[in-house]
Amino acid sequence: MAGKFTSSTQAIPNVGDVPRHIAIIMDGNGRWAKQRFMPRVAGHKRGVETVRAMVKACIARGVEYLTLFAFSSENWRRPVEEVSFLMNLFVSALQGEIGKLHANGVRLKVVGDLSAFEPRLLALIREGEAKTANNFRLTLTIAANYGGRWDILQAMNQLALAHPEKAGCYGEPDLAPHLVMAYAPEPDLFIRTGGEQRISNFLLWQLAYSELHFTDILWPDFDDAALDAAIGSYRRRERRFGRTSEQLGERTPAVKPSPSAMDEDA
Ligand code: IPE
Ligand code: IPE
Ligand code: MG
Repeated sequence: MAGKFTSSTQAIPNVGDVPRHIAIIMDGNGRWAKQRFMPRVAGHKRGVETVRAMVKACIARGVEYLTLFAFSSENWRRPVEEVSFLMNLFVSALQGEIGKLHANGVRLKVVGDLSAFEPRLLALIREGEAKTANNFRLTLTIAANYGGRWDILQAMNQLALAHPEKAGCYGEPDLAPHLVMAYAPEPDLFIRTGGEQRISNFLLWQLAYSELHFTDILWPDFDDAALDAAIGSYRRRERRFGRTSEQLGERTPAVKPSPSAMDEDA
């Protein structure tokens, strides 16, 4: 298996008390604003403050990867004014935050089909990624114009171009390195705020064995206590990865690890 992380379907990942990777669908900004008789976009603006707080909170808790869904490939369907507000907010947030992220040892990554963004935004993204590339305290990934299906398809297309001779025989280890988040382990914990219980085309491939946590709290209200509640719920889960509960207590794995599993966690 290529890559330095364990695929949850190819081998059994190491599991700790603190999730290494938390992925969040930041939902409920519009409703937060509506409750206060404010325009929807006021909720988005306020949501940026929650992002800032969660970056700090994840660093403090030893989380290594935080991935935030900021704009889906389907969010272009929103009113044009809201889309353009979100794009401008992205620009101003990058301008205002990159220096602070860098000072705090955060590595920034932006994943998604970035070709749709205007050059000014794209340049800021590339600049921010380059500046923070060698930081290692936390990897903050912003998924922008991201869709899980888009990700799998772009990986498939890259693979097919790179190895046309293997068509018909591609395996998971061939495809995985081409996914846009190949630099990160799969999310241990997925959180969706705002009360909806759906994936909305987020990390379809990578969430295969993530623990799912849904909360009614709206994103602008999500705080350290809410994060701790999510992590607390995560800790109480039994992550079996297909095995039985009894097997988890055994020291030697009852399943013979597959050859690909042997390459992992070296
Ligand atoms: C999430 O909040 C932010 C984005 C999708 C950009 P919403 O804008 O979806 O808020 P609700 O779901 O309408 O309350
Ligand atoms: C998902 O939220 C996308 C982001 C948070 C960026 P949406 O609010 O767009 O999801 P749906 O439309 O309710 O499924
Ligand atoms: Mg929503």
